[in-house]
Amino acid sequence: MGCCQHYALTEGGDTAFTVEPPVLTFGTGCVGEVGDHARALGLRRVAIVTDAVVGGLDPFARLVASLKAAGIDAVVYDEVAIEPTSDSFEAARRFAAEGDFDGYVSVGGGSVIDTCKAANLYASHPDDLLAYVNAPLGGGKAVPGPLRPHIACPTTAGTGSEATGIAIFDLVSADVKTGISDRALRPTRALVDPDFTASLPKTVMACGAFDILCHALESLTARPYTKRPAPARPSARPASQGANPWSDMGCREALRLLGRFMTRAVSDPSDVEARCQLSWAASLAGIAFGNSGVHAPHGMSYAVAGLVRDFGVADYPDDHAMVPHGMSVVLNAPAVFRRTAAVYPERHLEAAQLLGADVRDAGLDDAGEVLASRLVELMRACEMPNGLHAVGYGEPDIDALTQGAHAQQRLLTNAPCEMSPSVLAQLFRDAMTYW
Ligand SMILES: [Fe+2]
Repeated sequence: MGCCQHYALTEGGDTAFTVEPPVLTFGTGCVGEVGDHARALGLRRVAIVTDAVVGGLDPFARLVASLKAAGIDAVVYDEVAIEPTSDSFEAARRFAAEGDFDGYVSVGGGSVIDTCKAANLYASHPDDLLAYVNAPLGGGKAVPGPLRPHIACPTTAGTGSEATGIAIFDLVSADVKTGISDRALRPTRALVDPDFTASLPKTVMACGAFDILCHALESLTARPYTKRPAPARPSARPASQGANPWSDMGCREALRLLGRFMTRAVSDPSDVEARCQLSWAASLAGIAFGNSGVHAPHGMSYAVAGLVRDFGVADYPDDHAMVPHGMSVVLNAPAVFRRTAAVYPERHLEAAQLLGADVRDAGLDDAGEVLASRLVELMRACEMPNGLHAVGYGEPDIDALTQGAHAQQRLLTNAPCEMSPSVLAQLFRDAMTYW
């Protein structure tokens, strides 16, 4: 493209970007369309992948009724683990392999949709669990062909998983979160029904909102696609191709909606307008980062979530320690953006303004501080913990956190500046306490 300074062509860099938007239906009540869409895809017997909480909600009953009315045989699997692990991926894969399904319907948050992607992948193209997992933790094998049709119905405004080809899980043997990333994993169709968000507890809504925020902010500030080495073959261009004009559009609108509606949606479950707008922001950010990729805050989050010892949060399962995804990401965000602002200050300042910061007296040199301050303001308003120290980490953990984060090379190479072990260690130190 090379038509603006941010996307100026560089020696050896890519010269084009690819847009692969998902097929997505958005609107209150749209899960009732699932039966017709499944029939149009030629499905006769589907697995409904969900979790025990979602299985009890009214919109879920409407979804099941819709499949039944369309004459589709549906079997419910509601044993998905929140923040899935290699073990829970294996269990879902066994269910999928034994069920002889010709398609999948996932109904839940990112954990459910990601688990369904993995179950579909291993049932369609059986292999060792680690074979398709991102290198260097896994084999990084490309998915050899299409998967079975998958209709994703997100119930939390957050992960954007319905729009991406990424499935994240906790690799128990390595004590770290990692994932599978391949376009073939992108659901065939998504039905985004904001009705589901009406029942979300405050903390779940807050964690989802910060996940959206970081998707949009990381995508907008990622290394431009023109600075990523050109692929060996055009068809090998990665989905995490870096910032590009298409993804920028979704990021900007998602940040604007968050700046306007985020605290309302978190503090008042009955605020239908605010929660509906956050559902749309989640889809926009998901579509955006699904075509650009996220970077350091997410890369660091997988170490934060994977190494947790005894932290827990209300409204999440209490049978094991966990830092919910959106929380584990945003805890790193002010530290990261304070640093990366020096590379692309205009974008950082613009993001702060979209999120509602007053930037009238701010210059480009202030961009990092203005954005970090606005993030901290939103974290405090939504009752997030005060940095990594508040979820149980301290100086003795810096080496392990750095090692865990440094393994996330797919994400770190998408950052606007180099994320060496020493840089990561300093970022973790800077993220310990914010106020
Ligand atoms: Fe995320």
